[in-house]
Amino acid sequence: MNFKSVFGAAVAAAVFSLATPAFAQDAAAVVKERLGIMKMISDSVKALKASADAGKVGAGDAAKAGAALAGAKKALTLFPAGTGADKVKTRAKPEIWKDKAKFDAGMGKLFAGLTAVEKAAKAGDASAMASAVKATQASCGGCHKPFRGAKPE
Ligand code: HEC
Repeated sequence: MNFKSVFGAAVAAAVFSLATPAFAQDAAAVVKERLGIMKMISDSVKALKASADAGKVGAGDAAKAGAALAGAKKALTLFPAGTGADKVKTRAKPEIWKDKAKFDAGMGKLFAGLTAVEKAAKAGDASAMASAVKATQASCGGCHKPFRGAKPE
């Protein structure tokens, strides 16, 4: 066993003994993952709005909404304590951890919006999908305003 693997094993053991799995992850990697998901959700919602506006909705849109919903559910797990701006480069405000219930409720609105989008898309109902997309988009700002800080310079 060389030094590197001994050291690595010792660090892994220390991390494992001290932390829950969420903490064992590197905070920067958690931030990167949640940003990637947010970007995916953003691109999906834009595409879904375009479909609704064009009046052409269907299975492709339902699949897109379903994937965005799965991403949102994953994103909810990607804001563990210890991933705030005091620890890592992020726009996540400390308010998230001061009022986690409100933050989680904001995610709940996003889930509800995307669930309604998926349902409308499955039904091929463009006007229902347009209003569901609108509700989904309202959830973005509803959370970003209290919980996302300004862009770093
Ligand atoms: C419950 C809270 C919440 C909801 C709902 C939410 N976001 Fe976010 N979003 C955040 C937070 C917090 C960040 C900043 C994360 C960070 O910097 O670590 C963020 C970051 C982003 C980013 C930046 C990604 C990047 O690569 O820099 C985009 C784009 C985004 N959100 C789009 C959306 C869209 C579009 C919606 C709605 C369809 C949405 N978000 C809904 C909390 C939310």
